[in-house]
Amino acid sequence: MICWPISILHCDMGTPNFEKKTPQPLYCNHDWYLLALNEYYQQTRRQEIIAKWTEEEFESNVVKNLSERFGDKLNDQTLSVLGVGSGDGYQETLQLKKLKTKFSRISATVIEPNTKQICKYQITVRQNSSDITGIKHKWHNQTFQEFMTSIEAEQKYHFITIVHAMYYMGEVEEAVKTFYELLEPGGKILIMLVTDSGMALLAKTFPQLAVEEQTPTATTESNEAKTNCLITSTDVKSVLSKYQMAYTQSSYTLSADLTTCFTQDEMTPATKLVLDFITMTVKFQESVSDKTFNEVMDFIKRNTRVQKSDQGGDKYYFDTACDILVISK
Ligand SMILES: C[S@@+](CC[C@H](N)C(=O)[O-])C[C@H]1O[C@@H](n2cnc3c(N)ncnc32)[C@H](O)[C@@H]1O
Repeated sequence: MICWPISILHCDMGTPNFEKKTPQPLYCNHDWYLLALNEYYQQTRRQEIIAKWTEEEFESNVVKNLSERFGDKLNDQTLSVLGVGSGDGYQETLQLKKLKTKFSRISATVIEPNTKQICKYQITVRQNSSDITGIKHKWHNQTFQEFMTSIEAEQKYHFITIVHAMYYMGEVEEAVKTFYELLEPGGKILIMLVTDSGMALLAKTFPQLAVEEQTPTATTESNEAKTNCLITSTDVKSVLSKYQMAYTQSSYTLSADLTTCFTQDEMTPATKLVLDFITMTVKFQESVSDKTFNEVMDFIKRNTRVQKSDQGGDKYYFDTACDILVISK
């Protein structure tokens, strides 16, 4: 696993200002984080791509299996689902709706420390209430680590879903073992996270940039980031292999169109936001020195996929491949 030096992670950036300007890590600015995240999601069609996987693969990879294993046994009892870092619940709600086709009663425990995000999730639940009758949500506006201090020892879940939230779980081996212990025998854990590509490669190459994938949280936003490690699927898979935990794997790629960075004098505001997300830095272009900016852009350009557009010009795509791991117990 890659660990970044702690000194670069302070939100007040009390580090020596050897670069003329003072870049702010994206995770320190909630509003900018959400703006950049939404632009990145929209541009890469992230929500659509994951939703397509849920529509086409979640059934055979998770629902069918859980239903065969627990369907009869549960009878009229409740399927227990744990969502970790659920965000606004968009992806989780799609998964729950699929589970609902086989299980009449579901208890969905939601752990999301960002207050704005969990509020959005609650609104979505209210709006979809007729589709998800029989699903009882238990809201936890806290981190997973905080949640673990209050959980009952014997509490187990049939399905645990961690969609791009593994980055915040601290030491990867401990985290994977904790999730595995929380799982009922016969249950499934779904983990989606980046591979060692795209954004992960950029963060590894430029550790002085704001740390990859640290998001603002309700309870820890004023603290220094507790874990400074960028976790990728390679780290998780090595733990799974070490403990011989069975898993299946599939993948998808998020392609950010950065063409205007390389073909125009001025980037569009939307591209600037995408760049902020990719570099995890608020107003990246304006806040870093010209030297850092040029080095990062050079790296990005070398790592883009160039494709001819229908109009004949070149399009520059910065790809980040992600893995979907479904772990069985
Ligand atoms: C990249 S977002 C993913 C959200 C959602 N799962 C999705 O895929 O749309 C990561 C989420 O993890 C949450 N998070 C950050 N630190 C966390 C922690 N220690 N425990 C639980 N969730 C955390 C963030 O607030 C954020 O909503």
